[in-house]
Amino acid sequence: MARQIIIDTDPGQDDAVAILLALASPEDLTVLGLTAVAGNVPLPLTQKNTRIVCELAGKPQMRVFAGCDAPLQRKLVTAEHVHGKTGLDGPQMDDPVMPLQPQHAVDFIIDTLRRAPSGTVTLCPLGPLTNIATAFLKAPDIIARVQQVVLMGGAYFEVGNITPSAEFNIFVDPEAAAVVFKSGVPLVVLPLDVTHKALTSTARIAAFRNMGTRVGTMVAEWTDFFERFDVQKYGSQGAPLHDPCVIAYLLRPELFSGRFINVEIETTGEFTLGMTVADWWGVSGRTANALFIGHVDEVGFFDLLTERISRL
Ligand code: RIB
Ligand code: CA
Repeated sequence: MARQIIIDTDPGQDDAVAILLALASPEDLTVLGLTAVAGNVPLPLTQKNTRIVCELAGKPQMRVFAGCDAPLQRKLVTAEHVHGKTGLDGPQMDDPVMPLQPQHAVDFIIDTLRRAPSGTVTLCPLGPLTNIATAFLKAPDIIARVQQVVLMGGAYFEVGNITPSAEFNIFVDPEAAAVVFKSGVPLVVLPLDVTHKALTSTARIAAFRNMGTRVGTMVAEWTDFFERFDVQKYGSQGAPLHDPCVIAYLLRPELFSGRFINVEIETTGEFTLGMTVADWWGVSGRTANALFIGHVDEVGFFDLLTERISRL
């Protein structure tokens, strides 16, 4: 039986590749819906981009919902400097035709978890955790019904990418992240520590372009655009495909490894706001609450990604 998931997302080129990977894997994953959140770019763009990607995947019947347009308590911080003004800069994209669902994303998450048998729906946040935290705060009964939360966010050895100490998804809404990390929900975290090991390369981007498909070409165009930020900043060759690591973990968890540890979210630090304080060495005595992933088999990851994307 395919695993039932909700993808919560702020596209973002890497979100787009993650969504394509999920939609290319119907035998493994049933995407019950996609919920857009403000993050890389404002909500009107993330909900539009989510629909653009679903149409690109040939899945206009997918249900896309708009969620929260700002963090729980703070002003929205966006990342146009990484993703461009549209959030999907690189290739020219047509406006979507498929509809946006009228229901608020938070209510869709709550209703879906209440309707499905307990423990059968996995939440896959790829952006700030505002929608997820709002759902947990509005309907605490759903927390025990969640099969797993598998999210991209945080960092320990890699420290920050938006500030010296914080990763973007957590930094944008640290209070929301604290709600999720303290909720007791079964939690798998794919931080920069692992996503920075899933780097594109000229050859890997060429593999997408050489598919000769519209999807392959778009993925090549997006990763070409997306990598310029990381190459400039880190001097690395290639862009980290952050969000696709979440979906790849669901498809082939054996490609990944990590530790079940305590992870707390800094919500008051002057210089450390949004930091995931990951007790990798077990020194805090605090209760473990997250499987914190540190490593990926990079070749296996790109083989999986390339094979699946070539199906669309
Ligand atoms: O820090 C990387 C994360 O922030 C990714 O999810 C990217 O899409 C942005 O949302
Ligand atoms: Ca994202």
